[in-house]
Amino acid sequence: MLGFDLLWSLAMRPLVATIDLSAVCHNYAVAKRCGPGREAFAVVKANAYGHGVREVVTALHDLADGFAVACLEEAAQVRAMHADARILLLEGCFEAVEVQLAQQLRLDLVVQSQQQLDAVLAAHAGPPLNIWLKLDSGMHRLGFDADGVRAAHGALRNSAQCNELNLISHFACADERGHELTEHQLACFLDMLDLDFDQRSLANSAAILTIPAAHMDWLRPGIMLYGATPFADLSVAQLGLKPVMTLSAQLIAVRHVAQGESVGYGASWVASRASVIGTVSCGYADGYPRHAPAGTPVMVNGQRVPLVGRVSMDMLTVDLTDLAQPAVGDAVELWGNQLAVDEVAQAAGTIGYELLTKVTERVPRRYLNNH
Ligand SMILES: Cc1ncc(COP(=O)(O)O)c(C=O)c1O
Repeated sequence: MLGFDLLWSLAMRPLVATIDLSAVCHNYAVAKRCGPGREAFAVVKANAYGHGVREVVTALHDLADGFAVACLEEAAQVRAMHADARILLLEGCFEAVEVQLAQQLRLDLVVQSQQQLDAVLAAHAGPPLNIWLKLDSGMHRLGFDADGVRAAHGALRNSAQCNELNLISHFACADERGHELTEHQLACFLDMLDLDFDQRSLANSAAILTIPAAHMDWLRPGIMLYGATPFADLSVAQLGLKPVMTLSAQLIAVRHVAQGESVGYGASWVASRASVIGTVSCGYADGYPRHAPAGTPVMVNGQRVPLVGRVSMDMLTVDLTDLAQPAVGDAVELWGNQLAVDEVAQAAGTIGYELLTKVTERVPRRYLNNH
C-alpha cells in the first residue's frame, strides 16, 4: 500500500491557475516600448492582481524600474524580496507612525491629503523620502486640488523630510478612448508643471497604450502586465499582450438531461432540448463569478460551450450537447490562453481585474518559466 504522504502528493483537485511568468516579462516590455525612455513602476498590489506577488516580483526583479503597491504591508513584502527597487506606496500612509516605517523601508511615498502632509513634515528622524504629491485632477477619489498641490509643494520643496518632490495623478476614464474627462485631467496635470517637480507620473495601462501625451517620466502599468485589456473594444491580442493566468479544471461528471428538466440551484435553467450536461470542478469559492449568466463561454476540450444553471460554490455546469463524446476528465479552461479573461468578465458584467484578483487561495498556482 502507498504511504499517506505519497498518496497526498498524487492527490489533487482538478483545478489550477497556471501563471506564465515569461508573459508578465513580455507585457512589462510592451509597456516600456510604448513609452521609450520612460521608467515604469510595475503595479503589484493585491498580490500582483491575484498572480502571486513573490513570483511576479522575482520574475521582474532585474527588469522593472520599480514596483507600486497599495499599502505598507505590501511594500514590506516587496522590500523583503528586492533590496534596491523603488517601491511606490500609492495611497500613502494611513497613520502618522507609518511615515517612520516608510523611511525605514526607503519607500517612494504618495502624499494625498493634508493629514499625510502634516505627518511627513512632523517626521524628524530618518532619511528623506521621495514624495509623490497626488493631484486630484478630476477623479475625486484621492489627492489635493491645484491650490492644495501648490501649497504642499511650497511646504515640502526645501524641507528636510523630502528628497525628490514628484507629481502624480490617476485617470478615471482612460479606458474609454476619447472620453472628455481624460482631456480635462491631462490639462489639469499639465497646468501644474510650472512648479518644479523632479518626476511626474500619470499613465495607467490604458493611458500607456493609447495616450502618449500622458506618459510623463514614470508609467504605472497594472492590468496590462497580467495580460488583460483595460478596454472593452481592444483585445489583448490587438494590444500585443500575452495572457498570463490560465484557470484550468476538468469535467467531473457528465449526464443526460431530458427536455424540460432543470439544472442546478433554483432550477433556473431548463433544458429546451434533450441535453448533455457537464459538471466542472470550479465554483464561486474559487473565484469564478457566481453571477455569470447562462451562455457565458467555457472551453471544453478546446471548444467553446455555454455555462448553464447557477454557479455553485465548488462546481459549475455547462451544456455539452454539441460536443462529440465528452467524458469525465476532459480538460476545461475557464479563462486563459484559449479564452480571454476579459470575455468572461464582459459576459459576467464585470472586468478582468475583478476576476483575476478574486481567484481564491484554495486554487493552487502553478508557475511556468520561473527562473
Ligand atoms: C494609482 C494607480 N496607478 C496605477 C494603477 C494601475 O492601473 P491599471 O491596472 O489600469 O494599469 C492603479 C490601479 O488601480 C492605481 O490605483
